[in-house]
Amino acid sequence: MPGWLKDAVFYEIYPQSFCDSNGDGIGDFQGIITKLDYIRDLGCNALWINPCFDSPFHDAGYDVRDYKKAAPRYGTNEDLIRLFEEAHQRGIHVLLDLVPGHTSEEHAWFQESCRLERNEYSDRFIWTEFCFQGAGNHGYPYVGGEAERPGTYLLNFFKCQPALNYGWLDPDESWKCSTDSAGARGTIEAIKDVMRFWMDRGCDGFRVDMAASLVKGDDEKKTGTSRIWKEIRAMLDKDYPECALVAEWSHPDLSLPAGFHADFLLNEPAGPYAKLVRDYQNHAGRNILSDPYFTGLDPEQIPELEDHSFFKKDAGGDITRFLDEYLRLYEETKDTGYISMITCNHDTVRPSFNMDQRELELFYAFLFTMPGVPFLYYGDEIGQRYLSLRTKEGGYFRTGSRTPMQWSREKNLGFSGADEKDLYLPVDPSQDAPVVSEMQKDPDSLLNTVRSLLKLRREEEDLHGQPNLKILYAESGKLPFVYQRGERICAVNPSSGQVSVRIDAGDRDAVWKVGEGSLQDGVLTLEAQSFVVF
Ligand code: GLC
Ligand code: CA
Repeated sequence: MPGWLKDAVFYEIYPQSFCDSNGDGIGDFQGIITKLDYIRDLGCNALWINPCFDSPFHDAGYDVRDYKKAAPRYGTNEDLIRLFEEAHQRGIHVLLDLVPGHTSEEHAWFQESCRLERNEYSDRFIWTEFCFQGAGNHGYPYVGGEAERPGTYLLNFFKCQPALNYGWLDPDESWKCSTDSAGARGTIEAIKDVMRFWMDRGCDGFRVDMAASLVKGDDEKKTGTSRIWKEIRAMLDKDYPECALVAEWSHPDLSLPAGFHADFLLNEPAGPYAKLVRDYQNHAGRNILSDPYFTGLDPEQIPELEDHSFFKKDAGGDITRFLDEYLRLYEETKDTGYISMITCNHDTVRPSFNMDQRELELFYAFLFTMPGVPFLYYGDEIGQRYLSLRTKEGGYFRTGSRTPMQWSREKNLGFSGADEKDLYLPVDPSQDAPVVSEMQKDPDSLLNTVRSLLKLRREEEDLHGQPNLKILYAESGKLPFVYQRGERICAVNPSSGQVSVRIDAGDRDAVWKVGEGSLQDGVLTLEAQSFVVF
């Protein structure tokens, strides 16, 4: 386990939209470098940068054309290496985004794989044996008619993303390779080589895209895919012991034993995290569904869905709907690795979509006082808004969470000197769009609340990532929610009324708070919409 993860707080950067240093309308590495002091002063000590490699950008860079080449629109490999160095000088670690499940259809491996003549890459992707043949009994999407090779190939996500071949758990048809076939082995070695390439150049690890997607026809426990990650982890432990591996898997009970150091809890509509942040996040929120850019549906025909997000004022949220599942995962994995909770990410709607400043403060206070390794998505520290926009680079509904960072009241809100029409995406056009420069001056701003929270987390060792969580009070349909981390007691009341509860603890003062609360004579009391750390 890389020691630096224990007190890591990540800042996720969508490089397109963070800071444009050369006025071409799109963010770049040099832009990120100029903002490293800001990130450090905010209290984040690690970065996750979304894919920044050469790509035709049909899925915002998750369609990689060359794993070893920085996308020219962001800069050169040398610029990226300088970013690692500049970050390290400020005590900031950097994760790149590794996309092991698929490449772009424009990747040289895939181009070779399409050829009629057998070659080194023929089995780098998953091909059937006949031009009209389906993908077998597992229902994977496939494409035919695109290559001179007379077969169809499997996809991992969009049409532009052919699935790399890691073999099949149970190769029950002649075209399916086994997991120890030469083809599958070649893919594993190629991905290891990519990881070594960037580790040797100074990166600190990887956020791994669709980490569960490697072996096809895998069982429920992902036995085949897990075996590969264990092998990769063994390589890292030997040669790069400080390299961090964070999974996009959302199954810490599977991913951590497979070798990941951390795994995200994601906002699947049914997942535990969704119950906490909002009931229906990604695809099911009424406002999302009714947006004409996302569906052709008639908004009037979509039922109004109730939002029972726990941190929303008087929304009737129930913390046990989150905790039941979270605690099961936590207990099962706490000695193996970390659970990562997020403010949101480039695939979800921003939390400001359904929460106001105070509600966000309560949510963030919870996020940054829980065990594990938390992630803050750029802009969420200022409550940047979700915008309704036409799709860009395969974003669809996600595009609204990918707009330029709002730095100041200057041109394009300080993101870029380009003409407005040349911006990667428009900036928030509203008069009161939140911006960093103004919020920095306001002691009561969301930005300064986040900063003081992260300072608290940094200075209080009990609030680092380690598994010292104890639930003191969490009852279905009741408030407050109270938990302990070492010597610290954290308590939250999202409702509009005062609440109190008997707690088996001595008198204590608040060390951090929004709102008001007290802990005296065994009674913990919280005023409306309050979060207090005692
Ligand atoms: C992950 C990424 C998402 C991407 C997809 C395919 O879910 O977070 O942005 O579109 O994988 O790579
Ligand atoms: Ca630029």
